[in-house]
Order: sequence, then structure tokens, then C-alpha cells
Amino acid sequence: MASGPGSVRRWATLVVLVALGTAVTTTTNPGIVARVTQKGLDYACQQGVLTLQKELEKITIPTFSGNFKIKYLGKGQYSFFSMVIQGFNLPNSQIRPLPDEGLDLSIRDASIKIRGKWKARKNFIKLGGNFDLSVEGISISAGLSLGYDPDSGHSTVTCPRCSSHINTVRIRISGSSVGWLIQLFHKRIESSLQNSMTSKICEVVTSTVSSKLQPYFQTLPVTTKLDKVAGVDYSLVAPPRVTADNLDGLLKGEFFSLAHRSPPPFAPPALAFPTDHDRMVYLGISEYFFNTAGFVYQKARALNLTLRDDMIPKESMFRLTTKFFGTLIPQVAKMFPDMQMQLFIWASLPPKLTVNPNGLNLIFVLDTQAFAILPNSSLDPLFLLEMNLNLSVVVGARSDRLIGELRLDKLLLELKHSDIGPFSVELLQSVMNYAVPTIVLPVINKKLQRGFPLPLPAYIKLFNLILQPYQDFLLFGADVHYS
Ligand SMILES: *[C@@H]1O[C@H](CO)[C@@H](O)[C@H](O)[C@H]1NC(C)=O
Ligand SMILES: *[C@@H]1O[C@H](CO)[C@@H](O)[C@H](O)[C@H]1NC(C)=O
Ligand SMILES: *[C@@H]1O[C@H](CO)[C@@H](O)[C@H](O)[C@H]1NC(C)=O
Repeated sequence: MASGPGSVRRWATLVVLVALGTAVTTTTNPGIVARVTQKGLDYACQQGVLTLQKELEKITIPTFSGNFKIKYLGKGQYSFFSMVIQGFNLPNSQIRPLPDEGLDLSIRDASIKIRGKWKARKNFIKLGGNFDLSVEGISISAGLSLGYDPDSGHSTVTCPRCSSHINTVRIRISGSSVGWLIQLFHKRIESSLQNSMTSKICEVVTSTVSSKLQPYFQTLPVTTKLDKVAGVDYSLVAPPRVTADNLDGLLKGEFFSLAHRSPPPFAPPALAFPTDHDRMVYLGISEYFFNTAGFVYQKARALNLTLRDDMIPKESMFRLTTKFFGTLIPQVAKMFPDMQMQLFIWASLPPKLTVNPNGLNLIFVLDTQAFAILPNSSLDPLFLLEMNLNLSVVVGARSDRLIGELRLDKLLLELKHSDIGPFSVELLQSVMNYAVPTIVLPVINKKLQRGFPLPLPAYIKLFNLILQPYQDFLLFGADVHYS
């Protein structure tokens, strides 16, 4: 088989094209984009460095001993021992995004105070005492590599790169008349300590990332059960994306049925995220997220409501009785004199939410079956109506939850079936214009006040919340407090 360089190149091109093709077909937009801005990274750095400091202060320093030689006197031994870190000071630290790579942690001008004991021995002469050491001008540079586990959707973090450098080690012997002796081996102790600390610092950085930061990442919820019907999937659909200014997590952002999960018949739109950066974190919540909620609850037949007369305020002019409806549709009162009525209302289609810069709109198609309640309590069907509702959704945020409230903009009625002969549906229009906002919507709004939980890791409180609708998504921004 002939296979010159030309055909190799063709094969390579083909492989690239196949790879691109695969990438295009398997890439799904996220339902939610979680963004951490530089302000958020600064805060995370502050909190992370506090943890790192505690870990660095636990470093144990080995005993250093060796021989020395003095002219005329000959050889002796020295030893530096019981060295304890009094404080690890990390005044200057920063986390910066490295596009397409990860995060870079850099710490400058750090210093350590160490206290210890020394002893020296030459034949019968024994000397010893305390000393203080300061290690100064420490710099640490570490890379944080972010990834995700495609099976669990959890994010992962590792520290594949770390280097540290120590500028000076200064030793001070307190209250001793034997300073001259120390001069003999201070160089050696200083360089031993420098080498030992340099490698230990990176060991601690790497192990703190795997023992503290990685487990913390695991506290980000991947799926949350909401109620008997639905859960929310916040798993990552791709590795975290690092740009020059932000760290983005691309989350599935999808409701699913606990009974039997099936993919929704629509896909998330691409989100054109604004460049806002005055909050620490932002969530771009696509209308897809809300529509999967509607899809799951409607499919589970959970979007229903039964109205009876006793649920209607006493002072209301609207009554669920054949007497009241008889004033509009005379045959109701004639065929079912002086009876109570019941309305069973359910969503016949999944509600459809659209988000644009002017706000959130919801189209909700509700079927309403009216019954007369017979004296023996059985229900006799009267008519079936279709209500097309155009609603505005007012969204708000309460700490870690998104809440909503529906307001009626427009309602269109259609008679789908009548068991009491033909009548004009226009007669019911004004009744429904009154009943929907005053009786039906308050019941739905009460449920919406419970809200949706937002995907947050443990121990995080949000404040300075903002909400702003954009084309196809809602932007939620907040500052974060870790406690
Ligand atoms: C109405 O909704 C509830 C859940 O809220 C569900 O259990 C019930 O089956 C629904 N009823 C009908 C008739 O669909
Ligand atoms: C209730 O009464 C109606 C009419 O009087 C009758 O058709 C129906 O079978 C009764 N239902 C029950 C459950 O007794
Ligand atoms: C309802 O809203 C949709 C989309 O927002 C719009 O196209 C439609 O005209 C509205 N219908 C009414 C009756 O206002």
C-alpha cells in the first residue's frame, strides 16, 4: 500500500475534521453558567491562604547536627533541635486566571518565625541555649489545574506545579556570649534550613489542595432532590473554562423527573454573557433551566389545581355555584339548580418561559373542567375550557434561592367541549379575568415563593444580590461570604 507523506497529511486532516465534527455534535450549551470574577478569585484567595497558613504552621523542622572544627581546639559537634514555627506570615497573595490552563497562585514576601534550641560540644565543654530564626522573602508559585469528572459531573482541582524560593534565613541567638561560636556554623544551618523549608512548603501546598480544596469542590451540589416529582442537575458538562478575567463553570442546569428521566424536547440556547465584574460570582440562568422545570412538572401531571367555593374569599363577587354561573349561562342554573361547583384546572402543555431584556414572559395553557357537585357529592361535568395565559414573571432572590411571582397580562378563553349545550364563551371572559389573578395565581405564587435552590458550595452566604434579564437568560450576581 502506497503511503507517502501526502496521504499521511490527508489522513491527519481527516482525523482533525472528524474530531471537529464530533466536538460540534457533542457540544451542548450549558443550562447555567457559573462565573467567578477576579473579585471572587481575590476573595477565594484570601480564604484559601488562611487555610494554607494553618497548614504551613504545622510543618515540622528536623534536627540539624554536624561537626565543626576550630583552630587549635580541634573538632566538636553541634545540633539545632526542638525547632517550632511561631508564625507563618503570608501578606501578599494572589490568584490569577491563566487562560486555558488553570489558576496561578502566587505568594510573595512571606516570612516565618522559628524558635529552637541549640547545643554544641567539644570534649568536656558543653554549650547551649535558645535561638530565634527568621526566614524571609519567601515566594511561592503554584498552578491549580481544574477539571471535571464526566461520570459524576463533579469538578476537580489538582496542583501539578509548585515552586518556592527563600531569600534569606537569619539566625539570632538570644542572650548568649557565644555568638562567635554560632558564626562558625550559621551558614550551614541557614542553607540546610533553606533547602528543607523550600521543599516542605510545596509539599504542604500540594497536599492542602488535595486534602482541603478538592473536598470543598465536592460540596458543590451535582444533583439536588427538590420534592417528590423533580430534582435539579447542576453537574458540569465540560471542564471549567478559564479566560483572562474569569473562571466559568458550565453546568447542565436542568430539572429532571425522579420517576423516569428523559431528555427534554428542546435544547439550551447559547448565552451571551455580559462582561459585568463588580460582583464576585454570577450565574447566567438560561430560560432552558426554567422550561425543563415546566416540562418535568407538566409531564408528571403535577401542575393542577382544584377550586371549590370554600376556597374563594367570602367577600368575592365570584362564586363557584350554579346560581352564580346561571346568571351568565342560564342552562347551568336550570339543569343543576342550587348546587356547588368545582373547577379542575391543569396544564395541558408545558409552560413556556422566554427571557429577554424587558423581562420574563410565560405562556401557560390551562385546561379547566367545570363540574356541578350533585347532592350525593358526585361530579357532573359541565364544560371544558382552554385558557391561554400570557404572564409576566417577577423574579427575586432570597439568599440561596430564586423565587418568582406570576402576574396576568392577557387571558384568552376557548370552549373545547360543553355538556350543557352551546353557549358563548365571551360570557365567561370577565369572570376568568377576575378569578385567575385573584384566586388561581395566588395558589401558584405561593408555591413559587418556595423557590429554586441555587448551586452553591458549603458554608457560603450570598449578599449584594442583583438580577437582570438578558436575551434568553437571567443574570444573577452576588458577593459571597464564607463562614
Ligand atoms: C395533581 O397534582 C398532584 C401533585 O401535585 C398529582 O399527585 C396528581 O396526580 C395530579 N392530579 C391529576 C388528576 O393529574
Ligand atoms: C349521584 O346521583 C346521581 C343523580 O342523582 C346519580 O346518577 C349517581 O349515580 C349518584 N352517584 C352515586 C355515587 O351515588
Ligand atoms: C403572548 O405572548 C407571546 C410571546 O410573548 C406573544 O407572541 C403573543 O402575542 C401574546 N399573546 C397575547 C394574547 O398577548
